[in-house]
Amino acid sequence: MNLEPILVVDDEEGLRYVMTRQLRSAGYTVEAAEDGQEAIEKLSEKQYAVVITDMKMPRVDGLGVIQKANEIAPNTELIVLTGHGSLENAVEAFKAGNVAEYLLKPLDDIGLLNAVVTRALEKRHLKLQNRQLTSELQCAYEELKKTSKQLIQSEKMSAIGQLAAGVAHELNNPLTAVLGFAQFIDEKVKEQAPREWNDEDTNRIMNALQNVVKGAHRCRDIVASLIRFSRSSHAELHSEIDINQVLMDAFVFTEHLLLRQGITLVKNLSQDLPKAIGSASRLQHVFTNLIINAQQASSEGGVVTVTTQYDPNSQTIAIMVEDSGPGIQPDHLPHIFEAFYTTRPESHAGLGLSIASQIVQEHHGEITVQSQPERGSRFIVSLPIAKALETDPPDALAA
Ligand SMILES: Nc1ncnc2c1ncn2[C@@H]1O[C@H](COP(=O)(O)OP(=O)(O)OP(=O)(O)O)[C@@H](O)[C@H]1O
Ligand SMILES: [Mg+2]
Repeated sequence: MNLEPILVVDDEEGLRYVMTRQLRSAGYTVEAAEDGQEAIEKLSEKQYAVVITDMKMPRVDGLGVIQKANEIAPNTELIVLTGHGSLENAVEAFKAGNVAEYLLKPLDDIGLLNAVVTRALEKRHLKLQNRQLTSELQCAYEELKKTSKQLIQSEKMSAIGQLAAGVAHELNNPLTAVLGFAQFIDEKVKEQAPREWNDEDTNRIMNALQNVVKGAHRCRDIVASLIRFSRSSHAELHSEIDINQVLMDAFVFTEHLLLRQGITLVKNLSQDLPKAIGSASRLQHVFTNLIINAQQASSEGGVVTVTTQYDPNSQTIAIMVEDSGPGIQPDHLPHIFEAFYTTRPESHAGLGLSIASQIVQEHHGEITVQSQPERGSRFIVSLPIAKALETDPPDALAA
């Protein structure tokens, strides 16, 4: 039995009675209305599966009922009752919308009513099912689009990881050789410098050798951090960190670049920041990338401002890197966090922001950007404080 009732609308009392009785005896719940006005009132109050409506009625006619039903009850099927002489009425009704069937008056064979109602209900059922399937399909499509985007992104990242690991591995052997030979030469020269060298020569050569060793050590650190990055391990994500300290470390590497270009670095660091949790070196990488991006976007006389702030409501620390550069075009904005997306010259890989956003995600934080052409850019990293993660530890940070 159908849960939603059928509404019979006819100003002829006899016909209304016959139709109502016939449908009730077929097991339907039926309600009746004397004219279009009453039908519209009923339609505004509840849902009907089917409305069977006469066309010619006082107050509001069938067309009025159809128009109203289309507006407020698009899931209701409409059946039109029309006299032989007014077929153009029926045509008009069909044109007005959701009309599934029509019945000709007089209703010589009342049994026909059941067949027409059954057909209308079947149509309605199919339509509802169709709508449901379409919306499920739409959801599945959206989901698929999202996943495939993530997949492409993570494939790109894993390709970079593999590349980095490969390069690092290849560099390790020659680096060991460079360090080994440097040590060998160092020992030999210390044992006995060639006779034709005076003290000054020896000092210069020892100095040069120390520079070789220092350079090789620096390369080894870079290789180690490449390997760390390619493994993308969560192992060192557990220490409590002072974000201001991480920023100061980042300034050590970046401030001279800004000064050299005549750009001022303004440090607005809040003195009472709670501790965050994670990897200081990886976060330093994020801030260094943002500051270098700001520097690259700025010209002489520009200002780069780095601000830290604690928001007790969300229990997050916000780190903002702002510049007074040319800003980002609206059509570039959706892409800047993608791997290999760059609007800069060929020497840029377009990796800075995609790596930064990966690291921030590992820390259960968020990175966003606000920018308008000619009005500078502001990158905001927001990180949960350590205490917030203690009470509600996200999976990756949980012990
Ligand atoms: N502060 C900024 N001002 C204006 N545009 C920016 C800024 N930061 C990033 N962008 C835009 O976002 C793009 C992507 O930045 P991202 O750091 O990922 O790559 P990149 O700087 O181009 O290359 P890489 O970082 O690998 O050297 C940049 O090419 C640039 O178009
Ligand atoms: Mg960059």
